[in-house]
Amino acid sequence: MADVRVGSGAAGPPALLTATAVTRRYGSLTAVDAVDLRVVEGERHALIGPNGAGKTTLLDLVGGATRVDDGRIDFAGRDVTRLGPARRARLGIGRIHQRPAVWSSLTVRENVEVAAWRRVGGLRRVATPGRFRRRLREPALALLDRVGLADLATSTAAHLSHGQRRLLEIAMALANQPRLLLLDEPAAGLSGVEVQRLAALLAGLPREVSVLLVEHRLDLVYALADTVTVLYDGRRVASGGPAEIRDSPEVRRAYAEAVR
Ligand SMILES: Nc1ncnc2c1ncn2[C@@H]1O[C@H](COP(=O)(O)OP(=O)(O)OP(=O)(O)O)[C@@H](O)[C@H]1O
Ligand SMILES: [Mg+2]
Repeated sequence: MADVRVGSGAAGPPALLTATAVTRRYGSLTAVDAVDLRVVEGERHALIGPNGAGKTTLLDLVGGATRVDDGRIDFAGRDVTRLGPARRARLGIGRIHQRPAVWSSLTVRENVEVAAWRRVGGLRRVATPGRFRRRLREPALALLDRVGLADLATSTAAHLSHGQRRLLEIAMALANQPRLLLLDEPAAGLSGVEVQRLAALLAGLPREVSVLLVEHRLDLVYALADTVTVLYDGRRVASGGPAEIRDSPEVRRAYAEAVR
């Protein structure tokens, strides 16, 4: 399939993330096949494609959960290809997963506090837990307010619905003040009201936070994304603005083939 590059390649804002020919193989399967991806500062970049296209694997490669077999990843002017996920997180790559990962036994607010812990000093602050905890409380509550969970701040996270866990995980990721937020199907399993809240939340993120979003809900993708990259069978088949991607015959064909 041809690689339709929609839009000009003219130099615009600086790249925050550049993945160059990244490849990941599982046995004889090439899950991500020599994919190039560029996310510029402040961009909302969506990754779409049918099931098994390689979207989660590509997010894993960017976040460092999975290592590339070939290719290179640069983030914020630095080669991060060999760095693990914790190092990449400290450089500003935040992540939410296809299945929400929260601490079930902690309260909703404590989850956000724990997520912010490392950023404000981590283990060195254990000696003064009371003062330390108080410093985290206000920002945590502000983040919970932003994601619509302030009323549940003192509830145990185990009691949250799937959608509420999802929103909590986003608050936890934001607590680390990421420069790039990786979101894997944030709308999956959310109610209509929760999807609306998520859309408003993502639309309202400051441009200091760039976003790389995997999402099957194309209405959300087209409303939010500046750029859409389409993966199919591990390869990038198209990249461009939402209007061009929506009308691209290549993209329609990729989806049509996938559901046949
Ligand atoms: N750890 C693994 N071991 C073996 N194969 C894997 C592994 N992870 C992913 N794959 C395979 O790689 C391909 C891409 O998977 P991936 O999860 O990246 O797809 P996806 O685009 O995120 O799909 P979905 O929309 O269903 O989430 C699939 O064929 C999948 O089965
Ligand atoms: Mg996936």
